[in-house]
Amino acid sequence: MRVLGIETSCDETAVGIVDGRGVRANVVSSQVVHSRYGGVVPELAARNHVRGIVPLTKMALEIAGLELSAIDLFCATYGPGLIGALLVGLSYAKSLAIALGRPFLGVNHLEGHVYALRLARPAPRYPFLVLIVSGGHTEIVLVTREFHYRTLGRTLDDACGEAFDKVAKMLGFPYPGGPHVERAASEGDPRKVRLPVPRPSGLNFSYSGLKTAVLYHLREQPRSDARHVAAAFQEAALDHLVAVAQRAVDATGVKCLGVVGGVSANRRLREKFEQLGRERKLRVSIPGFNYCTDNGAVIALAGRRRLLAGATSSIDLDAVAREPLDAVSFGSSVAMS
Ligand code: KG4
Ligand code: ZN
Repeated sequence: MRVLGIETSCDETAVGIVDGRGVRANVVSSQVVHSRYGGVVPELAARNHVRGIVPLTKMALEIAGLELSAIDLFCATYGPGLIGALLVGLSYAKSLAIALGRPFLGVNHLEGHVYALRLARPAPRYPFLVLIVSGGHTEIVLVTREFHYRTLGRTLDDACGEAFDKVAKMLGFPYPGGPHVERAASEGDPRKVRLPVPRPSGLNFSYSGLKTAVLYHLREQPRSDARHVAAAFQEAALDHLVAVAQRAVDATGVKCLGVVGGVSANRRLREKFEQLGRERKLRVSIPGFNYCTDNGAVIALAGRRRLLAGATSSIDLDAVAREPLDAVSFGSSVAMS
């Protein structure tokens, strides 16, 4: 079965094609227009998706060496994300499905991120914990079986990637700032700046205090070296992720841990989680860089598995701004709508 997956939930226009053997094509166009505004402008994102979606689909088909008529299933992210942006990919996938008489399946964006783990080596075994760390989400989810999700904790304020982006802005780096903070941090000494590691209750996360601490530090010492500030921020931000993941491992006794989402592209994050794996004898899975950030291949992978499990989506499936993974768990009343 050949599956085409479309992702337009935020500022990446992305199309991926997968079949039973793996990924045949995965093209992503990151919209640079937002960097001028220091963050994603929803209407501009939607307009750019409109411009990009058709040529990107053609490019993906060309790379895969396939005609559109060879696609057996069309998938698109329907949420969570920016409504206007989501509607572009969602409507386009539906139109292709109708025109070609093929099934259509809407995919939850977070489930797409989780399915990137199928491309990680090693891939996790059920049950596993997955830490989703992106620009819009920071949460830890227990996956007991395929399509069975329980969110154990989430951010109480900012997402981890959002904090990277905000700190990057304070340091004068363009949006999206995560990779810039990482680059600066690699040349800095985290011990030169003292920042607090967040400690919210339970298995939750919190990044607004750390972000504010960076702001106050820069106000008090405006001439401090951006590389040291970036390094200290990155250490505290990542140590917080590791600490919560470790507590979730202790609380559940699960032996497999996956880390997905844009921030998992961070090399220092990968080092820290690999170290945690060695210390705690955990099987740690982190997808390759191309599958950490938003892309269409993981949407196609998730959609393919859902179709094989008997799901399809109604052609009037709407876009949603928010939707926890628990809502798409099998057995949940909203699942497989
Ligand atoms: O998953 P993603 O592509 O989109 C969302 O669903 O949000 O994640 C984007 C986020 C941005 O906040 C970006 O700054 C962050 O991931 N990011 C990074 C790195 N690469 C991307 N954060 C830290 N280090 C990186 N290398
Ligand atoms: Zn994402």
